[in-house]
Amino acid sequence: MTGLENRLKRIIKADTGRSLVVAIDHGYALGPMKGIVDIAGTISKLDGTGLVDAWLLTKGIFRHAFNPRGTPGVILRSSGGATIAGPDITNEGLVTSVEEVLTLGADAMAVSAFIGSENERETLIGLSRAADQCHRWNVPLLGVIGLGKEVGEKKNDAKFLALSARVAAEHGADLIKTYYTEKGFEDVVAGCPVPIMIAGGPKCETDLDTLKMIHGALQSGAQGIVMGRNIWQSPHPAALLNAAWQLIHKNCSVQEAQDILEESIRNA
Ligand code: 5RP
Repeated sequence: MTGLENRLKRIIKADTGRSLVVAIDHGYALGPMKGIVDIAGTISKLDGTGLVDAWLLTKGIFRHAFNPRGTPGVILRSSGGATIAGPDITNEGLVTSVEEVLTLGADAMAVSAFIGSENERETLIGLSRAADQCHRWNVPLLGVIGLGKEVGEKKNDAKFLALSARVAAEHGADLIKTYYTEKGFEDVVAGCPVPIMIAGGPKCETDLDTLKMIHGALQSGAQGIVMGRNIWQSPHPAALLNAAWQLIHKNCSVQEAQDILEESIRNA
């Protein structure tokens, strides 16, 4: 086994080939937002379920607010430098080195590429250089498919996401995080040589919608989730996490997951 495979196993579980990653890296560009204003409290609540395979977070949160009971996987968000308040949120560069990933004992690095944006070239070159650095140390790279203003409407365009996922993998990513499309998501998976995980995007109307999205992605071949808002902005984050875990690791149906959600809410 290589070091890269060893680290990947701390994220994608060997027994199911799937992963439940909670993303709490939003503050690096969006500031404090509902659900992660008290980020240490959110981490503690979700960590308490024992169901999180890995976390996606920044070095700042790792150093100042991250204190899990066990030793979950950690993916360090390593691109940044642009915010919602600035002229262009897609103008990201590398802000964390692979040495920092290793120093913090993290298992993987995450870098965004904004394909179709004005910063396509810079962010793809950044992702590709990060992949080279990572692979010198056998650290896996999660390629994050970012959407800027120019391509925001392409969130539901499977053809665009298939291109983006493939491009990021060809530039060296070992895992891809992208959005889910109800139609054609199997083509996104089929065209990408590395595992695909889905982000959730803005909060769905209901928790049932979130469960349907996760189920649809898994049925299309996704290997899990790297999800934030739909979990920690839910009125019942721990119960929803439990239902999502059953979908991901126990292959249950949407109906079964909904029953588990309701039971977890009743027992909370
Ligand atoms: C924040 C991110 C998030 O990690 C990603 O979008 C997943 O979170 P969500 O499910 O809330 O979309 O890249 O900038």
